[in-house]
Amino acid sequence: MDQKTYYITTPIYYPSSNLHIGHTYCTVAADAMARFKRLTGYDVMFLTGTDEHGQKLQRVAQENHMSPKEYVDKIVGGIEELWKTMEISYDDFIRTTQERHMKRVQQLFMKMYEKGDIYKGSYEGLYCTPCEAFWTETQAKDGLCPDCGRPVETMREEAYFFRMSKYQDKLLEMFENNPDFLVPESRKNEMVNFIKQGLEDLCISRSTFDWGIPVPIDEKHVIYVWLDALSNYITALGYPDEPEKFQRYWPADLHLVGKEIVRFHTLIWPAMLMSLELPLPKKVFGHGWILLEGGKMSKSRGNVVDPVVLIEKYGVDALKYFLLREYSFGQDGIFTNEALLNRINSDLANDLGNLVSRTVSMIEKYNGGLIPVPGEEGEFDASLKATALEAAEKIEPLMDRLNFSGALEEIWHIVRRTNKYIDETTPWILAKDPGGKARLDAVLYNLAEAIRIVSVLILPFMHNTAKQIWAQLGIREGEGTQWADVFSFGILRSGAKVEKGPALFPRLDIEKELADLMALQKGEEKDRKEEEKKQPSSEAEIQERISMEDFSKMRLQVGEILSCKKHPKADKLLISQLQIGEKQMQVVSGVADSFTPEEMQGKKVIVVTNLKPVKLRGELSEGMILFARDEDGSQKFVCSEAASGSPVK
Ligand code: MSP
Repeated sequence: MDQKTYYITTPIYYPSSNLHIGHTYCTVAADAMARFKRLTGYDVMFLTGTDEHGQKLQRVAQENHMSPKEYVDKIVGGIEELWKTMEISYDDFIRTTQERHMKRVQQLFMKMYEKGDIYKGSYEGLYCTPCEAFWTETQAKDGLCPDCGRPVETMREEAYFFRMSKYQDKLLEMFENNPDFLVPESRKNEMVNFIKQGLEDLCISRSTFDWGIPVPIDEKHVIYVWLDALSNYITALGYPDEPEKFQRYWPADLHLVGKEIVRFHTLIWPAMLMSLELPLPKKVFGHGWILLEGGKMSKSRGNVVDPVVLIEKYGVDALKYFLLREYSFGQDGIFTNEALLNRINSDLANDLGNLVSRTVSMIEKYNGGLIPVPGEEGEFDASLKATALEAAEKIEPLMDRLNFSGALEEIWHIVRRTNKYIDETTPWILAKDPGGKARLDAVLYNLAEAIRIVSVLILPFMHNTAKQIWAQLGIREGEGTQWADVFSFGILRSGAKVEKGPALFPRLDIEKELADLMALQKGEEKDRKEEEKKQPSSEAEIQERISMEDFSKMRLQVGEILSCKKHPKADKLLISQLQIGEKQMQVVSGVADSFTPEEMQGKKVIVVTNLKPVKLRGELSEGMILFARDEDGSQKFVCSEAASGSPVK
């Protein structure tokens, strides 16, 4: 019979900077799932990759004085290295800058165009001229560019559109007929409500930058992010020109995605596939985010978020275990160093590590290091066996619901039950009684056998640990290490030689580790700052510099804030009345997150006084107050002691 297939994908990551621990979450989950499906007999295709086009990447590359290609090559190299360190078992890694992807995206574009689903129109959006970027209403909150904080303007440009609106009813039908298409359920309701409000056609090209796949019929345009990015799931399978792999694995069994990109995967992607007349993926799972106390993950918040540092200290299995056990996959969770260290100590060092080391030591001490022949059955045996076999039965349904923490909890039921079995049967007392040998043999055998079942069950999550356990229990790969073997108790080979190895997870001194991690974090920050200072002035940077003539066009003056109030229609904006020498002017600033009006009042600040006036949410702004942005993103005053009106040169 032909082997069942299983196609699983992660999102393709933006290589705008190195990935942090939050990014690794989805890939670790996908890896566990792929390994689980392989273990349970599937022919698995596990795809991951990088999403390398777009204006943001072009800009970041420029800021780093590199060409976009040089920049993405560097970061993608790091991402591939990270997955290698984390032993991610992907089958293919797609980069959207690869020829195979680019040519296929153009073919997809043409298919949709020829069908009449793509047309040329004009795109109107909020544009920031200095950043050359279009923003949506939500991004450009209060009419300010989210990157530079300057006002955006409404602009129109020619663009290609995909007729999303045409697929509105079919999408609703899809949600109705496939209750399991999107999980968790709450995300589904959100999507259905979104569709019911009416879908607009989707702009799929841009002509204001060129770092993208050219529109095949119009070289002035590049294909804009989502059409390019989402197509990766089928271009990697060879669609449309090499259909063999595609036919084998499509439709995908599971797209794993973060909650903020569920909409793209459950509205745009199915609509694109409908247009291409292709089957839809079977399931999209929108997982939660891993946050830091106080908000999003960032490198300067006192917790080590670089996965490589954590792996070097605690090992890849511990990190993978922590990520999948600590958090409920559908929901957000908070990452702290303490949570990581506590999990390692309690579940891995105390529960699992101790169980294995105690068992191996006792077999060495009481049976010459050989797995005994199971002897005399006794009290507690039935309960131990039942716990192990019942837990094993529960794993597959839990995994199919992406309940990784539930599956690990079930496995740890066995671990804890087995530890308790040691206390109940007291092998050290049995060992003192010459008549207790047959019972002692049974106890030691049952302990080793329960551990064998645990070792197979943890394979998808912590394959290194599983293999270390086999080495310690004298288990050869293939002998009781397959999935079918978790449903039988009593197949471990008697007579196998156990061998005590190093502790699977040495117990950590939490206080000391916390201090080490804190020091590492501080060291990293210091290195980063020094690195930034050292950056030589490259050719590109010199070319970017402005002339004195450019600079002198700007009039900077000291101004005193006479009064300040909140903008009546915009939460982020403050309106200040300034005295600049003889003149007064009104300035609107996007700093309400950092200062109260009272804190603004009375400050002597530096003001750009010759900007063209603009209206921000109906309020006139005649200049711009300069603020400094601190490392953590908060604004700080740039004050002057000079008299109001003094020129700043
Ligand atoms: N390139 C797009 C995806 C295109 S898929 C066709 C993208 N890239 S991303 O790099 O910004 O994000 C990739 C994934 O990382 C997303 O699923 C996102 O939710 C996830 N995460 C980023 N930070 C995260 C956490 N802190 N925690 C969990 N996942 C997070 O979006």
